[in-house]
Amino acid sequence: MIEWEEKYSIGISIIDEEHKELIRIMNAAIVAKQHNSNIEDISKLLKELTVYALNHFSTEESYMVEFNYPEFQYHKEEHHDFSSKTITYCSRVIEGDYHIASEILEYLKQWLVNHIQITDKKYVECFKKNGLK
Ligand SMILES: [Fe+2]
Repeated sequence: MIEWEEKYSIGISIIDEEHKELIRIMNAAIVAKQHNSNIEDISKLLKELTVYALNHFSTEESYMVEFNYPEFQYHKEEHHDFSSKTITYCSRVIEGDYHIASEILEYLKQWLVNHIQITDKKYVECFKKNGLK
């Protein structure tokens, strides 16, 4: 489980809300896995996570384009890595590779907390300068 902590806040409300929702879905998947829920429930949550993450990435990326954020390319590549890994992992779980689910969740969890605290925090100054709060 990921407990929301102040260190995850980047101080821009629309982004913080989306990060909280991502963490909520991720926690639901972690709990489902811990309770040995069936494969349908876990893959449903992984799909939900993938769809939500893709939407969230496009929220961030459209601001980056709009504000001419200099590290856009690099940031976009990190998002792309996450999306393609999640999609691959998801399909493996859906195909019945059940035991891989814990590994996936651990990977996604680490990725998310690192990405928020390191890569996302870098655009805060630029986004705030352009009026986001
Ligand atoms: Fe990001």
